[in-house]
Amino acid sequence: MKKLICMILISALILSLAACGAPAVSNNDNSSAEPSPAPVSNNTAPANDAPADDKIGSKALIVYFSRTGEQYTVGVIDKGNTAIVAEMIAEKTGADLFEILPKEDHYPMTYKELTDVAKKEQNEKARPAYAKAVPDLSGYDTIFIGAPVWWGDWPMIMYTFFEQNTKALEGKKLVPFSTHEGSGLSGFDKKLASSCPGSTVLKGQAIRGNDCQNRQDSVRKTVNDWLEGLGY
Ligand SMILES: Cc1cc2nc3c(=O)[nH]c(=O)nc-3n(C[C@H](O)[C@H](O)[C@H](O)COP(=O)(O)O)c2cc1C
Repeated sequence: MKKLICMILISALILSLAACGAPAVSNNDNSSAEPSPAPVSNNTAPANDAPADDKIGSKALIVYFSRTGEQYTVGVIDKGNTAIVAEMIAEKTGADLFEILPKEDHYPMTYKELTDVAKKEQNEKARPAYAKAVPDLSGYDTIFIGAPVWWGDWPMIMYTFFEQNTKALEGKKLVPFSTHEGSGLSGFDKKLASSCPGSTVLKGQAIRGNDCQNRQDSVRKTVNDWLEGLGY
């Protein structure tokens, strides 16, 4: 019996010594598992070939609203300040021009009366109708949109344009510009972006109305520099 117990103890000792030298078994050893599929990418074009969202497109339209008559600091003018900038953009880019004209020309030609009508429209969130049909926008990929700042905002007639054409403006590059007498771009870009959520709004430009009448060389330089920055 003593002999049997002794043999059992010796066997156990031999087995435990053998275990000390055994390679550890890793739970992560999946060398025999199937290779997992490569991640699927939706972007089939190389990154460098992808169109950049901040670059202008090839076919452009300029949509603008502008008033003649009596304007702030410039007296009575026969070409509107924004119209002057719109034409400079057209000269440099070759873009087509479309002027938003009110259907009922209810805007007074004197400054004080005009500001009263504009304020009332703003308070009422009016959407004045415009006269001519907008050109087919499907042929344009970039649309410049310009207007005078009226009471710190786009004139209400421009919202008529945005809201009636939101769908047609989807996927397009929109480039805002303003003329003003101190307010700059006055948030035109952000307001345009929220009115046209499916479009991309590029860097805008603000120009002093008085400069449009009296310092056109300097305005042209500002406009051309801005357009060159956009890739024209
Ligand atoms: C109704 C009205 C409101 C205006 N409100 C502002 C304003 O809030 N901030 C500003 O800088 N200029 C304001 N102006 C000045 C015009 O933005 C500026 O004279 C502009 O160049 C006029 O452009 P247009 O000739 O293309 O209409 C206002 C002018 C009018 C007639």
